[in-house]
Amino acid sequence: MNYNIKFVKDFIQLATNGYKQNWHERNGGNLSYRLKKEEIENITQYCNFSSDYRPIETSVPKLAGEYFMVTGSGKFFKNVVLDPEDNICIIQIDDKGENYRILWGLKNGGRPTSELPTHLMNHEIKKVTTDNKHRVIYHCHPTNIIALTFVLPLDYKIFTRELWEMATECPIVFLNGIGIVDWMVPGGKEIAMATSKLMNKFDAVIWAHHGLFCSGEDFDITFGLTHTIEKSAEILVKVLSMGGNKLQTITSKNFRDLAVDFKVSLPEEFLFEK
Ligand code: 13P
Ligand code: ZN
Repeated sequence: MNYNIKFVKDFIQLATNGYKQNWHERNGGNLSYRLKKEEIENITQYCNFSSDYRPIETSVPKLAGEYFMVTGSGKFFKNVVLDPEDNICIIQIDDKGENYRILWGLKNGGRPTSELPTHLMNHEIKKVTTDNKHRVIYHCHPTNIIALTFVLPLDYKIFTRELWEMATECPIVFLNGIGIVDWMVPGGKEIAMATSKLMNKFDAVIWAHHGLFCSGEDFDITFGLTHTIEKSAEILVKVLSMGGNKLQTITSKNFRDLAVDFKVSLPEEFLFEK
């Protein structure tokens, strides 16, 4: 592999940066990237097209033939930069959208992340709803977001509003809010269906007592979204830890004023009076 190719470099860098943020204990978290046509041409020479197809365990017909770079199941984010070829892979989806084959990577064996059904179902929804723009799906285990799922009601309106209040730029960065999936068994089609349904509306979905999924156009946007959400969650945890009694905050009126100046339209469902 040529590690100077931009998407390859960016993929590895995100894994390293996520690890440095403490969002990837052990093998926690996973990352996937949908390759562009010209990027596929640049990596074909490194691919082995004779590997067997294996079932995805869900169906993603709109991703037929697509190529993805994906982290391996059980692999540690901390090790991605040290030995990419052992920890990540490039896969291709078959012409029905039901199977995948490994073209490159995982040189010592293994398979793509156990959350492949959720990654691919999210990619499929985002490919359609963003007119082919979103290409990165990122799952991590950020401490403060997870902590909040034990003390806030698992209601997307309350979560979104509470996090918006913690940092002025939040409503600009995650304008459509954050979705929430109640606790479910990870790693299968059920949780993939629940998550991708919410990805119709949101770019970020919380898995209660587990972690966060974010979607974006590129690695910076997706990592930045994750970082912004977790930062505001950290502030909220600190506020709650100081007794949780806010003497002042950003109000619904303040948000409406912000929307005018920033020329955005904030969904009214988050601007309720408290
Ligand atoms: P994988 O090692 O299979 O990617 O699983 C990690 C994880 O975070 C599961 O939700
Ligand atoms: Zn996880």
